[in-house]
Amino acid sequence: SNTPLALTPPMGWNDWAHYGCDVTESTVVANADALVSTGLAAKGYNTVTVDDCWMARSRSASGHLVADPAKFPHGMAWLGSYLHSKGLKFGIYEDAGTQTCGGYPGSGPNHFATDARDFASWAVDYLKLDGCNVQSQPGMSTEAVYRQAYQAQAAALRSSGRAIIHSVSAPAYFQGGPNWLSVIGWSGQVGQLWREGADIAMYGSGSRWGSVMYNYGYNKGLTSFASPGNWNDPDFIIAGDGGLNADESRSQVALWAMMAAPLILSSDVTRLSSDSLAAIGNSNLIAVDQDPAGHQATVASSTSTTDVLVKQLANGDRAVAVLNRTTSARPASVSLSSVGMSGCVRAKDLWTGATSTTSSALTASIPAHGTAVWRLSAANGCVS
Ligand code: DGJ
Repeated sequence: SNTPLALTPPMGWNDWAHYGCDVTESTVVANADALVSTGLAAKGYNTVTVDDCWMARSRSASGHLVADPAKFPHGMAWLGSYLHSKGLKFGIYEDAGTQTCGGYPGSGPNHFATDARDFASWAVDYLKLDGCNVQSQPGMSTEAVYRQAYQAQAAALRSSGRAIIHSVSAPAYFQGGPNWLSVIGWSGQVGQLWREGADIAMYGSGSRWGSVMYNYGYNKGLTSFASPGNWNDPDFIIAGDGGLNADESRSQVALWAMMAAPLILSSDVTRLSSDSLAAIGNSNLIAVDQDPAGHQATVASSTSTTDVLVKQLANGDRAVAVLNRTTSARPASVSLSSVGMSGCVRAKDLWTGATSTTSSALTASIPAHGTAVWRLSAANGCVS
């Protein structure tokens, strides 16, 4: 099918960073229900993806993937229909190699067509195709082997007759190597989003803010690859899920929205605080993330203390964010000219909703590890 997919960055939930391999049907259902009851689903967080470790250890006698009967007693078709009955979409995980990272049966290199047909028959809407255990092939470069595998999956999804978003993990397996940008380039031809770097730190690990900053750091320079239907994915939103304070959680949401990143929560949604729900559900920021022009922010300036990001929006507005990397509150002043604006500008603070006008600069006091973020529009009536 040629349906355009993911014209704005995908949003939803994935179990991995919170539950790891302990995923079960009841966990997925509880989180799906919480997306609906909190109102997050209505705000766009609607794709629920089951990550690694959902399968039985081997294929059926006829070569099909089967769900682990203990973890997913009703099977995957049931889960898809449950999610759809709640107005949600169904995402599933597989791997382009012979085994998933967790050691479960992979789709590669011979099962892409069978698995894509099964996913379609289970009403899957989104496939995350990981890149562990991709086997080398004689006479082919590692990059060529990955490319062949992901192209095979993309072709199988097209032939399945169902519109299935394809999340490509290939670039993450080339991060730090010479072929990284090349792999990102073709990932945009086989899928709609790609993981291009390290995993975000798991729940319970001690380094979650460092991990958010690391993933932000590798993603922020990839502006030129983003456009409607093509998104850099710096991994899950872990805001509110432990290990980040309230300002750090807000920063992750703001930075991901500026970068037009997929907003895929990986947390226990049943236990998010009202503060966290407010940050994750901030409609102003969701609108920046989901802006139809599909631009990823550019980095206007970057120092050891502060980054300034600027994102051109479809209606002519600009979003501007200032990240304070330091461990103390800092005053920030951003001239309009440094973010490409002039004249009289109305600035809406996307955290407080307060608006002000200026013809010179945006100013704020930014908390430690915090991010100030505004939406700017042309205005009349600045007093000079
Ligand atoms: C590596 C991926 O990057 C993670 O997001 C997760 O899918 C694990 N593999 C699962 O094994």
